[in-house]
Amino acid sequence: MGYHDLRFDQGEGLNRQGLADRIVKGEVFVFRNALQHFGLYDLWRDAALRGIAKSVGQAAADRAMSDGFHRIHEWVAAGDIPKMTDAVYAEIEPTAQAFLDRFMSGAFPGVTTFYYERTPNVRFHIPYDIAQAHKKAFNDFAKGHGQGKIAAHGPHRDSWLDCPSNGLNLWFAMGRIGPGNGMTIFPDDYGGEFRFKRSGDIADAQKLHRTWTFDLEPGDVLMFHTDHVHGSILNRTDETRFAISCRLAVERPVFPQLHFHDYVHSGWNRSSVLRPLAGVPAKLQMSFLRSLAVRTRNKVMPSLALGDPEAGPAEAIGRRTDRGFEVALADVPVGAVRGVSAALCVARLDETRVVALTRRCPHAGGDLANGWVDGDSVVCPWHNLPYDAETGASPCKSLPKLKRVACAIEGDLIVIEPGRVLNAEDDSETAEFLAAADARPAAAPSPAG
Ligand code: FES
Ligand SMILES: [Fe+2]
Repeated sequence: MGYHDLRFDQGEGLNRQGLADRIVKGEVFVFRNALQHFGLYDLWRDAALRGIAKSVGQAAADRAMSDGFHRIHEWVAAGDIPKMTDAVYAEIEPTAQAFLDRFMSGAFPGVTTFYYERTPNVRFHIPYDIAQAHKKAFNDFAKGHGQGKIAAHGPHRDSWLDCPSNGLNLWFAMGRIGPGNGMTIFPDDYGGEFRFKRSGDIADAQKLHRTWTFDLEPGDVLMFHTDHVHGSILNRTDETRFAISCRLAVERPVFPQLHFHDYVHSGWNRSSVLRPLAGVPAKLQMSFLRSLAVRTRNKVMPSLALGDPEAGPAEAIGRRTDRGFEVALADVPVGAVRGVSAALCVARLDETRVVALTRRCPHAGGDLANGWVDGDSVVCPWHNLPYDAETGASPCKSLPKLKRVACAIEGDLIVIEPGRVLNAEDDSETAEFLAAADARPAAAPSPAG
């Protein structure tokens, strides 16, 4: 089953009774043109334009207005994106209650009060090849704001990240967003058991299933449960994607991990008397006290802080031979990718074509053996980047190509020869690669962007 498309011009698509309940049970909705319908798009567009004007100048804001947010990297320098994003945050936060009041009463009939994350998440992802030169600054931005704001965030559940497990994630497209620069949901991994790191990233060595990606126009809203596994697509397009997301809970938010995000009670916040205390109702629960104790302990006695779970063993199927590796053809179904050694994976493109490629994604070390085949590409599961199986190239020109080694079907076996690199461009790199191609798999880095 796919996600639901809600459109105002399709009557039956508008049955929204019990919508919040359906979302926290795992259904995913794209509400087309919702912000324009509720008269809300201009509110956030204008707030964003004010932030852009204050941080990088009125001319940049004027151009964003006339040419669209998706082209903003053409006139705002990559190095200015962090301060511009900060300025947009400052303009958006004060509008959150008014915005959500109107959106929730329109889109979720019957929902009158809710608990919302005080600060909406502002997300400008410029094309990766342009951001690459500022990688450190972009990743540092995540320390203050969390991941996924201006750099790609790997697969995670929001509830692993100190967010509620009973929440709605409302992801508002402010510019146009496509399958090459948006976000993904892993629908078949909903409810699955996964190990995750303290950082909230999925732990390595776990298979993920193929994703849903979304084509969104400005004003469209993607709505999904905070417990869906989801993540960013590495922006492989030549357009910037601009989205703002809000997490909220219709019931009191439940925090299975740490609890320190500030959730505002919308009803209290409407009252001038109760407004200063609007963050209190969400905090009146054990998770907040427990979290306070854990955070204090981690600060005072960092040696007592819990570490990451043990990394599971990375997959290595097949057996070693004089020529390299042999894998049973039946162990690699059409469309599958499997790990062979520390540095190699094998992918089955169709009944008769197999390829053996570099296993670790050059972007951030994602394990392609946990990814999948899409047409003639092998897709990295961490940020959904496709690599051409023939050439090893991805659409991100600043990333190196995957190496491809000799690999053929012989009877009911796949025979892989790591010593025969088919697309070598640099001998020294090849020597290093060959050493790793033969080694046992080891643990991988985290999927930070
Ligand atoms: S696309 Fe990011 S690690 Fe592969
Ligand atoms: Fe998230």
